[in-house]
Amino acid sequence: MKTLIACYSYSGRTLTVSQKLQGHINADLIRVEPVKDRWYMIKAVHAYLEKKWPIKPCTTDINDYDCLIVSCPIWASRTPPGVNQYLEELENTSGKKCAALVTMGGNGSQIATTQIRNTLEDKGMEFIDKLVIGKTAQESGGWEAMTQEFAEKFIE
Ligand SMILES: Cc1cc2nc3c(=O)[nH]c(=O)nc-3n(C[C@H](O)[C@H](O)[C@H](O)COP(=O)(O)O)c2cc1C
Repeated sequence: MKTLIACYSYSGRTLTVSQKLQGHINADLIRVEPVKDRWYMIKAVHAYLEKKWPIKPCTTDINDYDCLIVSCPIWASRTPPGVNQYLEELENTSGKKCAALVTMGGNGSQIATTQIRNTLEDKGMEFIDKLVIGKTAQESGGWEAMTQEFAEKFIE
């Protein structure tokens, strides 16, 4: 399964997990990057309001791929605004598989994976699974085994 990992990572944790996953499944990985950075509170409020921020050019046409994994941190329980923009710009999604990978500073519930799932299913994609790496998994190192188990869903 030819897979693209589209990764937004502000402080590097999601990128570390995404690169580990990339190594397991031999996927392509691209970075989703907002055109400009904003203050912490603006980040949280805009994520909460489900706003979209302009992003730098990146692979949004996934015609060449069978599967897309969207990876990002949790902001205000939600997807960051740059990811919201990326999801909107995606093209040639119909019939493809998809998944979500998120990292978070706590261990609580979040709605970001539902946002990703709903948006991609509305674009005709089939959602496979989600991986949520919280504080405990990051601190214990358990995230590595979780990532390996998640990877098996993308290997044919
Ligand atoms: C603006 C902002 C809002 C955040 N909101 C949450 C939150 O609601 N819940 C949570 O568990 N962590 C929250 N975090 C922590 C990040 O999700 C966590 O540190 C994540 O692993 C960072 O990933 P990154 O290094 O790839 O950017 C927030 C971080 C930022 C910067």
